[in-house]
Amino acid sequence: MKKQKESSDDAESPTASGRVLVIHGPNLNLLGTREPKHYGLHTLADINLALACRAEAAGIQLDSFQSNHEGALIERIHAARAEGVRYLIINPAAYTHTSVALRDAIAAVGIPFIEVHLSNVHAREPFRQHSYFSDLAIGVISGLGNESYLLALDYIIGRLRQD
Ligand code: DQA
Repeated sequence: MKKQKESSDDAESPTASGRVLVIHGPNLNLLGTREPKHYGLHTLADINLALACRAEAAGIQLDSFQSNHEGALIERIHAARAEGVRYLIINPAAYTHTSVALRDAIAAVGIPFIEVHLSNVHAREPFRQHSYFSDLAIGVISGLGNESYLLALDYIIGRLRQD
């Protein structure tokens, strides 16, 4: 008979350790009421809680940060290097398509990151189809709603277990 898993954080899995920072760009504070046909009904608090629970089960430290201001996002990314953050998950929101400054901040700190989007940006307006981040990212997850973030975190947990 197949042995039952004890929990989602299988006791036989190697433990992960390390710090992960999730960055949410402008207007994502309005999730839940903002254009639900594109962004769903989960609030930002729902997403952050789901991420925090999964991170805790895996034994890693996870922080989340949202801002509507480009400079604040840049400064949070700069601080991440001093804090020893190992991976970033970033939804740059509209800055995906406009911000060389935010791209340069991520490139400057050199922290590996996954770019995520709730909506499928490739199925929307042409201006959303260019990203200033994708060529620097480990990978891009777009169009899977709040699962985009959770899948990114699962991948990072796997990488941290191997390190
Ligand atoms: C978004 C897609 C962007 O084009 C848009 O500006 C956002 C959210 C997404 O998660 O689908 O604000 O990044």
